[in-house]
Amino acid sequence: MPPEWNHLQRADLLRRSFSRRDFGRIATLVTAGAALPFYNEPALAQLSMVRNMPADAIKINANENPMGPCPEAAEAIHNIVKKGGRYMYESSFEVAETLASQEGLKSSYVDIYAGSSAPLHQAVLAFCSKDRPFVKGDPGYEAGERAATFIGASAVNVPLRKGTWDHDVKAMLAAAPNAGLYYICNPNNPTGTLTSKADIEWLLANKPAGSIVMVDEAYIHISPSAVRCSDLVAQDKDIVVLRTFSKLYGMAGLRAGAALARPNLLEKIKPYSAGAMPITAIAGANASLQVKNLVADRRKIMGDIREDTFNWLTARNVEFIPSESNCFMLNARRSGRDFYNAMASHNVYIGRVWPVWPQWVRVTVGSKEDMAAFKDAFTKVYNA
Ligand SMILES: Cc1ncc(COP(=O)(O)O)c(C=O)c1O
Repeated sequence: MPPEWNHLQRADLLRRSFSRRDFGRIATLVTAGAALPFYNEPALAQLSMVRNMPADAIKINANENPMGPCPEAAEAIHNIVKKGGRYMYESSFEVAETLASQEGLKSSYVDIYAGSSAPLHQAVLAFCSKDRPFVKGDPGYEAGERAATFIGASAVNVPLRKGTWDHDVKAMLAAAPNAGLYYICNPNNPTGTLTSKADIEWLLANKPAGSIVMVDEAYIHISPSAVRCSDLVAQDKDIVVLRTFSKLYGMAGLRAGAALARPNLLEKIKPYSAGAMPITAIAGANASLQVKNLVADRRKIMGDIREDTFNWLTARNVEFIPSESNCFMLNARRSGRDFYNAMASHNVYIGRVWPVWPQWVRVTVGSKEDMAAFKDAFTKVYNA
């Protein structure tokens, strides 16, 4: 066992009954400072992606934001580069404090990470085990499932509710009455659909003791009607909320995210990784949070492009799921994989296919130009 681990970490791992082999594997990774198998959106996209994407490809495959960081963030990042010789830990506290105050939380309820993938994976390691599964909606964001599988915890997939395509929280609880983590992505990736706050509260009230509800709010800023869960965090519920600067804030490649939870939950998640935040990410996040109307302005820009795309598809009788996010699912009416390849042959790279819906593909809402190219390629491919 790594000598630097404290007694809580040791006891926690042993209590959660990893096999000696699993334990040795994680311990080796931790001592070696190696990365755990952290899958994020680009890594997952690559599972279904053609290699050697051309430099001029239209990339609407990974739910990125083509606007990139706002000008204030870009300038702050530029200015901080010369201080790159410093860790500047104190500045990450500033991000936590600003985010906390905007969410009505004490700053001890916010931990900043280099993206939200890290706290997502770490929470799975912290709360799931062989006896405590990971539960998610299907189709849903797969990263947590992969972390669960890595530690030998089972991953339980529960179909979204037909028609509303929200999480079926009662079925999730029934499918795994003793889960370590119930994962709700709100809005959901890939459908962009919302799960009601009432359903999240129901799950919190009815789940077994010791399990956690994680609400991944990666896309919450983009949605005009999603209700945030920060107040449930403030009430010290068994909830972890994830936030990221990768989506609306356009900082996916800069890596900033946060976990919001009561301090003793954050303390359980934290020890599964080490390392400072890049100061460029801190500077960009800090600056982004200060810009008045940034969220509302970008939500409008992204929403207008999304609605235009939906109107266009509707006029052509194409079946799609109305989304409140920067991605949506559409029915390709043939193998989604073939449809993907056909679109790629026109240099338009759409998102992946979920095994549970093999004829549907995910499309990211890109820039106006991206969506014009999408419409062009779609016209050629869809009826072919
Ligand atoms: C639902 C969801 N959660 C988390 C992430 C991870 O994002 P990041 O690590 O860039 O914050 C993504 C990325 O696409 C996502 O779609």
